[in-house]
Amino acid sequence: MMGEYWLPPELFSLDPFWRNFFDHKTTVQFDHRLLAITTFVLIVVYWLRARKSDLPERARRGANALLHTAVLQVVLGISTLLLAVPVVLAVSHQAVAVLLLTVALYLQHGLRRA
Ligand code: HEM
Repeated sequence: MMGEYWLPPELFSLDPFWRNFFDHKTTVQFDHRLLAITTFVLIVVYWLRARKSDLPERARRGANALLHTAVLQVVLGISTLLLAVPVVLAVSHQAVAVLLLTVALYLQHGLRRA
């Protein structure tokens, strides 16, 4: 929830419309939340499917690392929000975002020979 709402009513209150995506704090946070949920759900679905297929060892390790890193990232993100953005958590969350991208590249590389 954001404040009292699942879908905040003021999402598109700025004019012109496109400015909301850059200058409206609520809209930016809401976009981040949607992208975070989408990314996380896709990673879980990917992992469930990868588990059933016959992947090379490196790719299997990459898929497992991707899931673990995504869980860590979501836990850090939610903790950052609930504790009102302590710098150490916020910075860790940003660093783990880079780690998540790195793990995704590692996985992609491991899949090249699959
Ligand atoms: C795949 C990458 C990422 C995932 C899965 C993710 C996930 C999350 C989640 C679930 C939250 C809780 C916020 C909410 O529900 O409203 C959050 C908060 C936050 N994230 Fe991320 N995040 C990612 C990348 C990033 C990046 C790259 C940055 C900045 C460079 C960032 C900055 C923040 C900040 C500042 C918060 C706390 C304040 C707020 O909610 O606006 N995140 N993140």
